[in-house]
Amino acid sequence: MTRAQVQPPGTRTRTLCAVAWDEAARGVRLVDQTRLPAETVYVTCTTVEQVHDAIQRLVVRGAPAIGIAAAFGTVIGVQSSRARDFAEFASELARVTEYLATSRPTAVNLFGALERMKRAAHANRELPIPRLVERLLTEARAILNEDIEMCRQIGQHGAALLSDGDGVLTHCNAGSLATGGSGTALSVIYAAVEAGKRVAVYVGETRPLLQGSRLSAYELRHAGIDVTIICDAAAAQVMREGRVRAVITGADRIAANGDTANKIGTYALAVLAEAHEIPFYVAAPSTTFDLSLAGGAEIPIEQRDGGEITWLLGRQIAPADVNTYNPAFDVTPARYISAIVTDQGVLRPPLSEAIAEFIAPLHGHTLRSEPINEKRKVKA
Ligand code: MRU
Repeated sequence: MTRAQVQPPGTRTRTLCAVAWDEAARGVRLVDQTRLPAETVYVTCTTVEQVHDAIQRLVVRGAPAIGIAAAFGTVIGVQSSRARDFAEFASELARVTEYLATSRPTAVNLFGALERMKRAAHANRELPIPRLVERLLTEARAILNEDIEMCRQIGQHGAALLSDGDGVLTHCNAGSLATGGSGTALSVIYAAVEAGKRVAVYVGETRPLLQGSRLSAYELRHAGIDVTIICDAAAAQVMREGRVRAVITGADRIAANGDTANKIGTYALAVLAEAHEIPFYVAAPSTTFDLSLAGGAEIPIEQRDGGEITWLLGRQIAPADVNTYNPAFDVTPARYISAIVTDQGVLRPPLSEAIAEFIAPLHGHTLRSEPINEKRKVKA
């Protein structure tokens, strides 16, 4: 058993490496998040079916990490191609990307990464197939490296939102385990701590799959951050006791009006934060925006097996024949969101305007080199 200590670049804090390309195996190396924190086991997927299964079973999870894994999965799916020309290769590629797209429905990074891989193939159609495959690997590596940089920028932009001595509540895991780099919501916390602020993190356990207690608590402790696990149902009491001065979560998909899908329970936290006059922040890279959707009602919400509720760690905890309803995500309406921390800067309400101004021009493009001007992006 090895510890997950490979350090992705982008932060001075000791973070974890969730997804990497293994050149020797020509596969994607993942830390199996279903087994954390009790066991730290790496798996290397060398077939597209293994990558699909790893995404579906949450071996790799978190919107950016899913997109990165799918990009490498695309390479895996075509690297043994015997196509004689680009047309044959393109139809093999389409089969692979269509299949990977069925692994999970909510995180838009998955679909964005698959589209980008297809675009890269078509833009390099004149290359011989073996070189085209290597070009696709370069593209997948670029998706990973850009995510590392976006995580770093999210941290830099968001750190100013937290003050010395703050308690902060987060949900699920939006850290290094969910991205290629230092995370989104947790990157903000890492950057604030690196800037010398004392931050006490509260994390909801995040039923049913416990990404908060199993993953965020593990990751934050690994990074040496003060972390306290609470039951999801304790959030209101924790807010009323004045223990937290901000809530910060990640996102799986953000619509053009700012409505944000994230792990089930996020919406409840946003409503509670408003009731307690606590700011509710979302942290996400520009790759998590889906500007083809006007509002959150259009975001597909993954429905998962009810067994995730009725069974816990291999033990039945509810009647076998009980009805279950297990949406994996919910949508927080934009009106509850105080700001969205992005790699481009901090977007303030009205979010639809800020998104149209600062995120829309980026879509289909790589990162802007200069962050947006603070005065323009932060609306009073
Ligand atoms: O079901 P999961 O564990 O993939 O859900 C993950 C989340 O909801 C994260 O908050 C989100 O993907 C952002 S990760 C930076």
